[in-house]
Amino acid sequence: TIMHLFLLLILHATAAVGQIDPAHCRYALGMEDGRIRDEDITASSQWYETTGPQYARLNREEGEGAWCPQGQLEPSDTQYLQVDLGRLTFLTVVGTQGRYARNSGNEFARAYRLNYSRDSVLWKSWKSRLGKEVIQGNKNAYESVINDLHPPVIARHVRLIPVTKPSTAVCMRVELYGCPWDDGLISYSAPEGQLLMAPGYPVASLNDSTYDGAHERRRLLGGLGQLTDGVVGLDDFLVTRQLQVWLGYDYLGWRNDSLGAPGHVEMDFLFDKQRNFTSMKVHSNNMFSRGVKIFSSVTCWFKPRLIASWEAEPVTFKTVLDDRNPSARYVTVPLRRRAARALRCRFFFADVWMMFSEISFQSGGKPLPSSSCFSLLSVGCVFARLYFLPDPSASGRPDDGNTPILIGCLVTIILLLVIIIFLILWCQYVCKVLEKVDFLSHPDVGQVWVSSGGLLISSLRSPPVASQRAVQDGVLARPSLVSIWMTQPSLSPPTACGGGYAEPDVTQCTPHQGFHGPAPHYAETDIVRLQGVTGSNMYAVPALTVDSLTRKDISAAEFPRQQLVFREKLGEGQFGEVHLCEAEGLPEFLGEGSPLPDGDGCSVLVAVKQLRPDATSQARNDFLKEIKIMSRLNDPNIIRLLCVCVTSDPLCMVTEYMENGDLNMFLSQREMESTLTHANSIPSVSLSDLLHMSVQISSGMKYLASLNFVHRDLATRNCLLDRRLTIKIADFGMSRNLYSSDYYRIQGRAVLPIRWMAWESILLGKFTTASDVWAFGVTLWEIFTLCKEQPYSLLSDEQVIENTGEFFRNQGRQIFLYAPPLCPPSLFELMMRCWSRDIPDRPTFEGLYQALRPHVGP
Ligand code: ADE
Repeated sequence: TIMHLFLLLILHATAAVGQIDPAHCRYALGMEDGRIRDEDITASSQWYETTGPQYARLNREEGEGAWCPQGQLEPSDTQYLQVDLGRLTFLTVVGTQGRYARNSGNEFARAYRLNYSRDSVLWKSWKSRLGKEVIQGNKNAYESVINDLHPPVIARHVRLIPVTKPSTAVCMRVELYGCPWDDGLISYSAPEGQLLMAPGYPVASLNDSTYDGAHERRRLLGGLGQLTDGVVGLDDFLVTRQLQVWLGYDYLGWRNDSLGAPGHVEMDFLFDKQRNFTSMKVHSNNMFSRGVKIFSSVTCWFKPRLIASWEAEPVTFKTVLDDRNPSARYVTVPLRRRAARALRCRFFFADVWMMFSEISFQSGGKPLPSSSCFSLLSVGCVFARLYFLPDPSASGRPDDGNTPILIGCLVTIILLLVIIIFLILWCQYVCKVLEKVDFLSHPDVGQVWVSSGGLLISSLRSPPVASQRAVQDGVLARPSLVSIWMTQPSLSPPTACGGGYAEPDVTQCTPHQGFHGPAPHYAETDIVRLQGVTGSNMYAVPALTVDSLTRKDISAAEFPRQQLVFREKLGEGQFGEVHLCEAEGLPEFLGEGSPLPDGDGCSVLVAVKQLRPDATSQARNDFLKEIKIMSRLNDPNIIRLLCVCVTSDPLCMVTEYMENGDLNMFLSQREMESTLTHANSIPSVSLSDLLHMSVQISSGMKYLASLNFVHRDLATRNCLLDRRLTIKIADFGMSRNLYSSDYYRIQGRAVLPIRWMAWESILLGKFTTASDVWAFGVTLWEIFTLCKEQPYSLLSDEQVIENTGEFFRNQGRQIFLYAPPLCPPSLFELMMRCWSRDIPDRPTFEGLYQALRPHVGP
């Protein structure tokens, strides 16, 4: 594991230096020390054999001590010294000197220009960020003058062109500084950047001001520019890193509706040779308060050779949008090792604006040296080169000595050792904390064991025996990041005890096979799982043993089933159906004093939940248990059981009929009240309606919590509305078919409502009133988004589970649901408290009710 950690660290370290940092990319490229060979230094002319281009080496005195072009240089002359760097290079600094020749020379260039080329065919003139071409040179023949190139250039061939005002003899010695351009990108093309003009804000120009290619029909063609200058933009795109430039300088940005092809920006990337691409990193602004977000997805096509067509199969990557953190960030797009010479990528807008400041490509995949010692050193040295080289401009010339590197290597090794020790201690701490929670005492739904290779939590325990067997049988092994070990599907629990939480008072149960540990953590010790069989909802209730559950346990009266007249089907689940029926004579049957549903006097409409005759005996038992629980519940915000038909098959429970169906459907078909909805008579709801709904749900849950009932599946889909818009919490298991995407599937079966579940329910199988509070927070979020979106809709189920790991680790990387635009801030704060990592920090239902109630008018 330590080796793994180590390798991971090394990979991360190398990945972290994947982008070029111009502040550190300042290595002497080899004029002075001879790594650049004589034959790679040429010139437009030379005065004498002894002042040829090979003598243009900084701080050297061979020949006549410098390169001198022929004759006196006129202001209109273009003479140049040309250096072939042998490979594409990110060039950041140029150093020049005149001819000193041990005090016998006195020629130097007071100014010069720089031309560069990536292919030795197309030459470009360097310009400063403010558009100046001329660089100040030397003032005497001996001192070297260092000039930083802002912007840096990416080139293989460089020409220095001395510039003079009066006619004079000039001579030059030169060093070039930079580092290899490993991306290999030689050009990108993109739509031109645009102006951002918003009332009350200054204008920001989001163009690519250093682009060295052509501008044709509002597109940038064949060049490189700000996206490869190593300058990453700041969180606020209006604030620039450079002084004396315009607002928005660091970003290239586009407005969604302004491009020919709405919805995306298309960019082409051309490389020096065919490469195997592992990833692309796009540094993107995410100032969502100003309508800027990272792209929602990107699709890239690949071209293996220049003269070839784009390959049919693209790579698509969806990002995780972040509405909470406005920081600009690198988005890494995996490119699956696809081989290509050119890429075409379409970046899809997630908001009105998209702004990039850097794009880099990782390719090749050089194998890691096998010796980790070597790796360590190389990482150390990378760090050293990055962090310990003195800033050359400070000392007058770039420093390429080895001592700082060695110091850097040593410091880095020590740092790595400290990190490893810290990680080991941290792992030990986590294991200890988790051992306190005995997973195996929760053999029910959500039995989760996280594999040692998993990203959520490192190795905790071996999986339960049954699961180990299942793995051997290859049934449950999942190659994904997280292994979830369901001991049994939730409808067929593993032991004769009904598979629920530990039941210390149930003596006739066979011992929990492979399950042991303390009683559950919450108030009641005698709790069993109860399964909504026609659906799959579960409640934790005071214990009933399977065997002892008989007709006399059910307090609801038996209704003559022939008096139930079928009207229509309301829903369907795995083990049964819900019908709308007319119950003839129900008012008399229930007797006086019983609060009756509305009806025509002698018959009333009711919902009849009916178990399939062929249901398993387990499902049958669970159905009876559900009846027993419901017959004990009596609250205006909990669905009311009216009567049952259990003396013969099919078993039925009769509940009040809720004319407005479930809250999810109800809200998703409505808009927020506005003059528009009034005018067009669109069904609408007001903020106060939404608050009233929230209060009612909190009230029903307060009642359940007071009885220590744990619902486990609170969500808008499980809240029903009657014709007066009173909300009642129900087991709406029938909706499973309708809402199956809300449930996480294992082996194709929908089992867990993971998007509503607290981290401890997913990771530890721990369901409590506090996890119901978490689900209540998500239910509030659904209400205030008018159920237009599934929670975490941009995350796949697997990503939701990964995010759960982040909730557990609580290192600020967890993704929360965003604040719904309609939601008052104080209410969103309340939701956030429901999603507190630490259970005691979550509010109680009593507290939630008290906090919500004042928002609703009398
Ligand atoms: N679907 C399931 N139960 C229902 C109920 N009680 N009223 C309306 N529709 C339902």
